[in-house]
Amino acid sequence: MAENVIEVNNLEHKYGDLKAVDNISFTVRKGEIFSFLGPNGAGKSTVINILTTLRKIQKGEAKVNGYDVAKETKAVRRSIGIVFQMMCLDYEMTVFENLEYHGRIYSMPKEERKKRIDELIKLTELESKRNVLAKDLSGGMKRRLELARGLMTKPAVLFLDEPTVGFDIQTRLRMWEYLRSIKKEGTTIFLTTHYMEEADQLSDRISIIDHGKIITTGTGTELKNQLGKDIIYLETSDNQAAADILKTLESVKGVNEDTEFLRLMIGVDATHILPKIMDMMRQNGIEITAVNIKKPSMDDVFVHYTGHGLREGGSEDKNNESETVEALT
Ligand SMILES: Nc1ncnc2c1ncn2[C@@H]1O[C@H](COP(=O)(O)OP(=O)(O)O)[C@@H](O)[C@H]1O
Ligand SMILES: [Mg+2]
Repeated sequence: MAENVIEVNNLEHKYGDLKAVDNISFTVRKGEIFSFLGPNGAGKSTVINILTTLRKIQKGEAKVNGYDVAKETKAVRRSIGIVFQMMCLDYEMTVFENLEYHGRIYSMPKEERKKRIDELIKLTELESKRNVLAKDLSGGMKRRLELARGLMTKPAVLFLDEPTVGFDIQTRLRMWEYLRSIKKEGTTIFLTTHYMEEADQLSDRISIIDHGKIITTGTGTELKNQLGKDIIYLETSDNQAAADILKTLESVKGVNEDTEFLRLMIGVDATHILPKIMDMMRQNGIEITAVNIKKPSMDDVFVHYTGHGLREGGSEDKNNESETVEALT
């Protein structure tokens, strides 16, 4: 089997005049968890739908498990598992029946079906719900059942489109655990998310996607290290003037101006350069009203590469997101 389980070259997709996917190329290696991180409307679902053959490819090339999504649709489908928001379980069937039915559709032999169902019910902690109707499960349990179903056929690649949207933090952390154990089984995982922490904590590699374009790709650590050693947040009486002065410092690798504060990317230990920054401000008659030093986060990475915060998009679960951020930091 190919080292790259997903290969995408110059993928483009339009809805009328709107270019939802704009010349995207990337590869996903065998056995890794790879994330598309981006705001609502970035083009994540369009890409995942093309890769899973749910949407016809318009322009460019995409291979999944070595098969061309345009020409070898059936082979692609046999290679993948899908967990999508819009896909429904059969609510009038029990947990067991949903999995059993799925295994039968895919013509899994009886013994293998039975073994796999037992494994997956255990993995997703649904043992006590085995004979409960899907409609009587909680939201988190339904999603776990969808996950189990997506995994019934031991797919080479598992696709998940925003797998934890609307989850509380506990359920989200548990979902990450399931995905890590699935990875251990050798499954390659491609997921989309607009949660920074999800991409950061779960993925081997992340592509940041915005307005249909991949802006940068790397491990979470690589992406954060590119920004420097430390970030200094500075609130001053004149941020514009302060930015102009600080840009001239060699150890200041970049300056982002936010509405209230400056975000300085520092190539050295911030504690060493802070006294100098304070001196320079004083000499120029600029008052510092607040200072904060921290290590670069995914949030900083996102702002740096896209020029805007991820939460500006007015997503409907804005509140959940900020709770999550607080709960994790
Ligand atoms: N079926 C569609 N018809 C027209 N426009 C669409 C359709 N699906 C998505 N779009 C638009 O394409 C862009 C990318 O959407 P999508 O791939 O769903 O992004 P994401 O999953 O990152 O939120 C958005 O501007 C969205 O409004
Ligand atoms: Mg989407």
